[in-house]
Amino acid sequence: MSVMYLRGGRPLEGELTVHGAKNSVLPILAACLLAGGPVTLSNCPKLTDVTTALDILRRLGCKAEQEGHRIVVDPTGAEGNAISEKQMQAMRSSIIFLGPLLARMGEAHLTYPGGCELGPRPIDLHLAAIRAMGCGITEDHGIHCAGRPAGGEVYLSIPSVGATENAMLCAVGASGVTTISNAAREPEIGDLQSFLNSLGARVRGAGSSTITVEGGRPLSGGEFHIMGDRIVAATLLSAAAAAGGRVRLSGVDWRHLATVLSVLHQAGCRVESRLEHVELERDRAIALRGVPTVRTAPYPGFPTDAQAPVMAALAVSQGCTLFVETMFDSRYRHVPELIRMGADITTEGRVALVRGVERLHGAKVEAHDLRGGGALAAAALGAEGVTVLSGLSHIDRGYEGLETMLQCLGADVERREA
Ligand code: EPZ
Repeated sequence: MSVMYLRGGRPLEGELTVHGAKNSVLPILAACLLAGGPVTLSNCPKLTDVTTALDILRRLGCKAEQEGHRIVVDPTGAEGNAISEKQMQAMRSSIIFLGPLLARMGEAHLTYPGGCELGPRPIDLHLAAIRAMGCGITEDHGIHCAGRPAGGEVYLSIPSVGATENAMLCAVGASGVTTISNAAREPEIGDLQSFLNSLGARVRGAGSSTITVEGGRPLSGGEFHIMGDRIVAATLLSAAAAAGGRVRLSGVDWRHLATVLSVLHQAGCRVESRLEHVELERDRAIALRGVPTVRTAPYPGFPTDAQAPVMAALAVSQGCTLFVETMFDSRYRHVPELIRMGADITTEGRVALVRGVERLHGAKVEAHDLRGGGALAAAALGAEGVTVLSGLSHIDRGYEGLETMLQCLGADVERREA
């Protein structure tokens, strides 16, 4: 088991191109099941969740290989229709294979994705969307779906990212037209739509609350470039806000980060955003300011995945910041770890009150989930002394070599075997 040693007190300086987005490549890998020939994906991050998705594709009979940031999937040999419990547990978002499996095979057998560190991960909206397309579902020691999907009217009571993606993928293979209303509007949904249309599908409306899919069109193989990861960018910008200095990130559309940039600007950072890069500068001699309220919400609201990193930056500030986490039940597991570093944070259910302190100090801390881990690394770079961060398996799910990225920006960080 490895741990990260981070020595704080040094401002960050440098430029970096942000790697491809985990939350785009995962649904696009599932979508490869629908392709009519080999698919080549570029700008794919090297992450454990990607490895898990490739393993699922291979178990279903596809050829799937990653070389560096390039992935080639050939689905022509796909014949399986079941995903094992181990695979479902390894990655909560394995549920995203349900829609394309049904569309391709006419049946799908999966187990429930585990409740993860964020709290329960229900899939009722995924199942309701599949039912709305005419497929039968029995829940008996797992989820068993059968029937070729027909077009239908899908209404999502919550703009769920995963349920929107599952509905899109099932609809592409359905025999008629499907309308998805109250769809999620995250940028990664737009990337999925662009990918599907590049194969010959006809999907419209991603980025709005209503998506329409003209199903049943034959799809080809193709090539596609995965978008940059806006949450990795938010984490690196939060680290710069915590440590001070100046960083420039390219490969991400700043418009996908507008709410995060606004909060960091309100806190006192200088933020310059262009279509192809984002720059943040913070003078460490000037304390950050608390920001009245940071309330997470579906896109284009403040992203729940950026809540922990931004909290880490604002833990050292003048004044208070009130966080309201509206998306998940248990997304404050980084708070006790920040308190061990000297933060002053009180949580009550989905609310966290951060009373800014003058400084944090290094400590032994543990990541309990992916973005909480990124947050603790950001906090450590703004703290005095050395922090020893464990739980790196969580971090490796969504950050490709976080320590390398931070080193590129001048941070004193190294990864060692514990
Ligand atoms: C996606 O998860 C992301 N994961 C999450 O990122 C992200 O936090 C989340 O969207 C919200 O933006 C991927 O894209 C792989 P949801 P997802 O369905 O699709 C409830 C990360 O750190 N809900 O939009 O699982 C659910 O409980 C990860 O990269 C139901 O009630 O999220 C939550 O309260 C963490 N029933 C809300 O909807 C359902 O059937 C939003 O969840 C589905 C969801």
